Amino acid sequence: MVVAIDGPAGVGKSTIAKMVADRCGFYYLNSGSFYRAIAWNYLRQYGEPTDRNLVLESAERLKFSVVDGRLCVDGVDVEDSLHTPAVDLWASKVSVDPRVRTVVNRNLYELSKGMDIVAEGRDITTVVFPDAECKFFFDASPEVRAKRRLDQHPDGPPYEQVLREIIERDENDRNKPVGGLKIAPDACYIDTSYLTIEQVCEKVVTAIFARETLIHRQN
Ligand code: DC
Repeated sequence: MVVAIDGPAGVGKSTIAKMVADRCGFYYLNSGSFYRAIAWNYLRQYGEPTDRNLVLESAERLKFSVVDGRLCVDGVDVEDSLHTPAVDLWASKVSVDPRVRTVVNRNLYELSKGMDIVAEGRDITTVVFPDAECKFFFDASPEVRAKRRLDQHPDGPPYEQVLREIIERDENDRNKPVGGLKIAPDACYIDTSYLTIEQVCEKVVTAIFARETLIHRQN
């Protein structure tokens, strides 16, 4: 079974998707990590990823694997290098190129072959796995997401800056020519604003079990 989850930045997708995958015994794929790894690898090798053709070439050369939900590049776990401000910025920029998106999607298909998976990102329910058996769109207002970010990082930038950055990232994510953030018509929409992580996880797991039961009965 493929469980596909989309939603804007900072809505809690990764935390919840990981919990759901653990609970269901499914393989967890975070598509954002692939864009981050492409940006990170380029930054450390060549500097700022402004040469689109070289970004594509270097992305094509990377060998991705996922171990316990953590992304490895050429066999090395890179997960801890993927959340710097430079990677945040450049991952967003490299993800605009449809050719880079094709490379990421090809890797996602390869890694998920024959597996039960929970995959999350921005275009998972619409482009990457449009036939997923279970689709979810998580949402929360920019203000709620900024407040949550601030609660997690009280020593970080002030609320106004966090809110501004979230609104900018939403704009970028929605306005990509290919793979922009959209709500799939057949996705279950969950407004997480006033729900705990546990409550969202419970809703998702309940829906997965209901879908599994239905598929089982139909076969
Ligand atoms: O979910 P995240 O913040 O780790 O994603 C990193 C970047 O990759 C972000 O700018 C959005 C982009 N992204 C994308 O374009 N498509 C996806 N399926 C997942 C992430």
